[in-house]
Amino acid sequence: MAELINFKWRQLILSLGCLLLIIACNSSHLNINPNVKLLKVATDPTFVPFESQTINGNLEGFDIDLMNAIAKVAKFAVEFESLPFDGMISSLQAHRVDAAISGITITAQRLKTISFSRPYFKAGLAIAVRQDNQDIKDFNSLKGKKIAVQIGSTGADFAKTIPNAKISTFNSGPDFFQDLLNGHVDAVVSDAFATLYAIKNGKLKGIKVVENLLTEEYYGIATPKNSPHLDAINKGIATLLSNGTYKQIYQKWFNAEPPQLPDSL
Ligand code: ARG
Repeated sequence: MAELINFKWRQLILSLGCLLLIIACNSSHLNINPNVKLLKVATDPTFVPFESQTINGNLEGFDIDLMNAIAKVAKFAVEFESLPFDGMISSLQAHRVDAAISGITITAQRLKTISFSRPYFKAGLAIAVRQDNQDIKDFNSLKGKKIAVQIGSTGADFAKTIPNAKISTFNSGPDFFQDLLNGHVDAVVSDAFATLYAIKNGKLKGIKVVENLLTEEYYGIATPKNSPHLDAINKGIATLLSNGTYKQIYQKWFNAEPPQLPDSL
C-alpha cells in the first residue's frame, strides 16, 4: 500500500514537472512573458544591404542586425513585417506597426506625421547611369533627362527639383535599375550606399555612380508620433554605439569604419 502511494506521488511530481517545463518553453517562444514587449517592426526588404530576403525567406541586412541588437539590449522582442516602402508611413500613423526600419531618411516633412529615433546611419543620395553614359556628370547635367526613382523616397523628392526632368516612379529598387539598363531612363537618383554596394558586389552590372554626394541624409527608426517605445530604442542605439556592437555590424556589412553620428538632428 505504502509503495502504491509512493508511486502515485512520484507520478504526480513527474507530471507537474513536465507541465512546468511545457509552460516555460511555450512562454519563451510565444512571448507570453508580460515583462517582454513584442514590437511589430515594418521593413521593405528590397534594399540590399540594409534589408533583403534570403532564398529561405529570412530577412537579413544591416537594419535587421541593428534592430535585433537594439531589442536585445532594450529587452523587447521583435516581429518583422514586410511592407512596401511607400505604405510605411501610413501604417505607422494608423498604429498598424510599432516601428519601421528600412533605411528611412529623417526629413522635416516626415517628422510632421511620425517620430524618429536618433540618427543611426549616415547616408546620402547618388546619381547612377549606364556605364557608357558620357553626358551625365552631376546635378546640372540631369536637366530635362528621364529619371527613375523609388516612389515615396527622398530620391523622388529630390528628382522633383531637377528642371524639366521626366520622372518615372517605381515600387522597388531592383525595378528602377532594370529600367536604367533597358535604356528607358537616363539616370536613377537613389540612396548612395545601396547603389554602391550592389555595384561592388556584381549585382548591378553595366551601371556606374557619377555623383554620390548629392545630399547628406541620416536614417532613423520610425515610430508613430511620440511612441512610448522611442526612449528604449534611443537608449538601445546609444548602448550599441558605445559598446562596439554598432561598429561590428557596420564592419560586417560595409567593411569600413563607421563615421561619427550626431546625437540628434
Ligand atoms: N532613404 C530613402 C528614403 O527614406 C529610401 C529608402 C528606401 N528603403 C527601402 N527599404 N526600400 O526615402
